[in-house]
Order: sequence, then structure tokens, then C-alpha cells
Amino acid sequence: MSTVLAIETSCDETAVAIVRHNPELDDRHLLSNIVSSQIEIHKQYGGVVPEVASRQHVEMVNGAIAHALQHAQLTWADIDGVAATCAPGLVGALLVGLTAGKTLAMVHDKPFIGVHHLEGHIYASYLSSPSLKPPFLCLLVSGGHTSLIEVKDCGQYKTLGQTRDDAAGEAFDKVARLMHLGYPGGPVIDRLAQDGDRHAFLLPEGQVSVPEGGYHRYDSSFSGLKTATLRLVQKLEQTGEPLPVNDLAASFQETVARSLTKRAIACALDYGFTAIAVGGGVAANSALRQHLQAAATPHQIRVLFPPLQFCSDNAAMIACAAADHLNRGHTSALTLGAQSRLAISEVMRLYQA
Ligand code: KG4
Ligand code: ZN
Repeated sequence: MSTVLAIETSCDETAVAIVRHNPELDDRHLLSNIVSSQIEIHKQYGGVVPEVASRQHVEMVNGAIAHALQHAQLTWADIDGVAATCAPGLVGALLVGLTAGKTLAMVHDKPFIGVHHLEGHIYASYLSSPSLKPPFLCLLVSGGHTSLIEVKDCGQYKTLGQTRDDAAGEAFDKVARLMHLGYPGGPVIDRLAQDGDRHAFLLPEGQVSVPEGGYHRYDSSFSGLKTATLRLVQKLEQTGEPLPVNDLAASFQETVARSLTKRAIACALDYGFTAIAVGGGVAANSALRQHLQAAATPHQIRVLFPPLQFCSDNAAMIACAAADHLNRGHTSALTLGAQSRLAISEVMRLYQA
């Protein structure tokens, strides 16, 4: 049994959570889950401004840590380990949580556990589906990532597919911007699409060619779709008529959902996975949920969508990953640095031999 306090500051949420993990029972108990979002601040700039994010984390992190302990009615004596996201992400933002975590571990003489942000997203599925056991396939779709990851065990991952350009969430954000819909784009496109015709416009799905001919079965590309949507919007704007935003949103969303579903199902079938766990902010997308579920059911593939609060960035998922590592004796050196990029297959580099 271990109780871990975790800090997540890789992008624009300052989050702190405490999880108690009993490995014998596979029981993960969320004792507190504090998330302070900066979306309202970044909205005025149309996207996340890294320097603003770092400064905001500095302002929020100490209060969030105190709040998490208070909410769980715990003191430092009850905490067995301190964790923080250390990669990948915005380096200045990561450094705030990482420095806070390492300092608290040192001051209170607790083990420190650095966590890979994407491993955290994978653990969101364990948190919400306690019966989930590896191996399974994780479809991770966020503002920064679009990956199909083979989950073998704690710390053991292989990327089977990824985007060659924009991440899925990034594509939603960019298309929303060119339709003058504000930031973040995913939720507003999803909402507008509810009243639109998803077959109104035919948009290119985007494929990654392979040298031997044909296209990559698991990798995706969204930059062509974004450009095609831009051209279409420009053409429609020239007519002087109001933009058919609902139909545009529905057609764009449909294309992304189909593309992701096709790749995830092909990968699951090729590798024989019987479960697909979805993570990241785009897991909230209604078309993706419908398509993936409909495509998986005939193949008896189980699809798991964590509740939305665990899909978008949070520290509960980071605490879950850290508790599993701590229970296996994986701890990090206090010299561990922040890294903007780190492949998920390299997770075990974060821990001392
Ligand atoms: O996982 P997340 O909160 O942060 C990152 O690690 O990136 O994901 C944020 C992304 C944004 O790009 C946002 O537009 C997208 O998730 N998103 C959605 C929806 N809700 C959030 N995309 C499509 N449909 C949604 N309903
Ligand atoms: Zn994330």
C-alpha cells in the first residue's frame, strides 16, 4: 500500500492529486484531485503561451499542494512518495512542478518519482476501469499527441502508430481558429457539429504513404485535412454568405473520427488486442466515441473511455502511475531534469537502476 502526492504542470493545468494504491487488490483510491485550469488566460491569445503558463504554475502550485493535503485530510507523515510529471511537455512549465516535487521529497525525506506524461494518460484508464489488465492498446489523442501505444506492463510500452504532423487536438484547435471559433477548438466544434450534416462536405482523411506503395495502417496525418478545410472556408467566405459552421464542424469532426477509428481498429486486429483504452482531451469527442464503439463491437473489442475529468490533463493519472512504479521499487534521482520530448518506450530511463 502506498500513498502518493503527484504534481502535473506539463502544459496549461496546474494539478495536484493524492492516490492510495493497494497493489494486492489493484485498488486505486483517489483522495484528492485539484485542477486549476489556465484556459481562460490563454484564450485571449488563441492558444497556450508557454511563458505565461510557467508563471501561472508558479503562482498556483503551492496553494494546490496545500489544498490537496487538506482535502484528503492528510499530513506529510501520511505520504509515502512525491511524484511530478517530468516529460514530455513545455520545459518551463514542467520545471515548476518538477522542482516543487523534488524539493518536497527532499525536505520531507520521501522517495521521488518522475512520471512520463503519456504513461499518466494510460493510467487514467486503470483508475476508471479497475478490471483493465495489460496487454491492451491505448489510443492517446490530445492537443500534443496522437499515438497508438501497446501497453505491456508498468513502464513497458511500444508506440505502434503516431501522427506525422499535427496532433488530433491541435487539428481541432487550428480548424476552429480558421473558422473564427476561439480556443480550445475541440469542445466548440463538437458542440456545433451536433446541429450539422456530417456528409455536407467531403474532406480528405490524410494518409501517410509507405515506400512500397499504399499507406501506413497506423500513422495519421492531419495537416492536409487542415489545409483542405482552410481552402473550403476561404471559398465559402468569398460567396458573402454566412459560413455554414455547423456543417463544416460536423464534416471535419467526422473525417478525424473516421481516420482515428480506422487506424485504432486495424492496429487492434493486427496485434490481437481485445481492449482499446482511449485517453487525452480528444477522447471527449462525441463522433470519435460513436465511431470507435460501433467499429469495435462486431470484433468483440472492449473500448474504454475514462470520464472526461481523467481524459484531460490531471494529476490523479500521474499519481496512479507513480504509485505503481513506487510499489515496484522504481524511484527517480533528485537530479532528474525536465525534457520537452521523451519517447514512451524510454520511460524506464526515469528510474534509478
Ligand atoms: O489532454 P488535453 O486536455 O491536453 C493536452 O495534453 O493536450 O487535450 C486538450 C485537447 C485540445 O486540443 C482540445 O481542443 C481537445 O483536447 N478537445 C477536444 C474535445 N474536448 C477537448 N477535441 C475534440 N472534441 C472534444 N469534445
Ligand atoms: Zn495530456
